[in-house]
Amino acid sequence: MSDTSGGPVRKLTIEVRDLHKSFGDHQALRGVDLVVPEGTTCVVMGISGSGKSVLMKHIMGLLKPDKGTVLVEGQEVARMDETALNEMRRNQGILFQANALFDSQTVFDNVAFPLRERTRMSEEEITATVNKTLGMVGLSHAAQRFPGELSGGMQKRVGFARATILRPRILLYDDPTAGLDPLTTAAVNDIIMKGKQELGATSLVITPDVASAFGMADTLAIMHEGRIVASGPPDVVRESEHSAVKAFLRNWLARRSKNRTPPAGAT
Ligand SMILES: Nc1ncnc2c1ncn2[C@@H]1O[C@H](COP(=O)(O)OP(=O)(O)OP(=O)(O)O)[C@@H](O)[C@H]1O
Ligand SMILES: [Mg+2]
Repeated sequence: MSDTSGGPVRKLTIEVRDLHKSFGDHQALRGVDLVVPEGTTCVVMGISGSGKSVLMKHIMGLLKPDKGTVLVEGQEVARMDETALNEMRRNQGILFQANALFDSQTVFDNVAFPLRERTRMSEEEITATVNKTLGMVGLSHAAQRFPGELSGGMQKRVGFARATILRPRILLYDDPTAGLDPLTTAAVNDIIMKGKQELGATSLVITPDVASAFGMADTLAIMHEGRIVASGPPDVVRESEHSAVKAFLRNWLARRSKNRTPPAGAT
């Protein structure tokens, strides 16, 4: 799959060029440039309202640019017809804050859903594939349980299993650890790493969790007021002199030291 013949040239799986988007007179994106090479993990951070989710929605084809282009695997998203969009989405595993699991279906059936909808696999093949995927996220024992009977972290893992069962080439995460305790957050970060290692997927992760971001990112991009103000390997971004980046990292350090001894009523 990787190109070893012509040197270490990686294909660009996601390529965003000069992306602009306004809602009314609010400029949510003011010229975003971002490239994510095949098989790498890019983590996008930035304060609330800086444009992270709007950027991701362009990559999913849910929003159209006012100006600029978004290419996914070399194809311009804004020019895709329904068929091309569906094909692209089949190759995108998406994990958001909400899990959107089917409460009335077992874990097994939740995870089997994309296989039943999108493939012609036999029930036997489906069973084998689902069991393997549940094993990968450590949920073999929970196959016959219902989402309501699981902890938040387990639900996340079911969501991840369902999002990755078709072995997507691209994984998109928008704040997947929001509202989770530190232990569960660590478990989710672990499955994000698995997505990279076991699927070789190209990942774009939005997370406010700086520690995990530094741990998993090949590249980090910091957004501020609709632009990416610093990007590159974590060690490079850490040294950025941009005031918004310094403020963002300083703020995180302050919060982290406060959270070491959790004050009463802290969220
Ligand atoms: N559909 C929409 N209609 C109008 N305004 C929108 C819409 N979507 C986003 N915005 C605005 O665009 C800006 C960027 O929003 P976005 O959701 O990308 O922020 P974010 O960086 O993801 O923030 P958070 O960390 O809180 O999720 C915000 O000011 C938001 O209010
Ligand atoms: Mg958001």
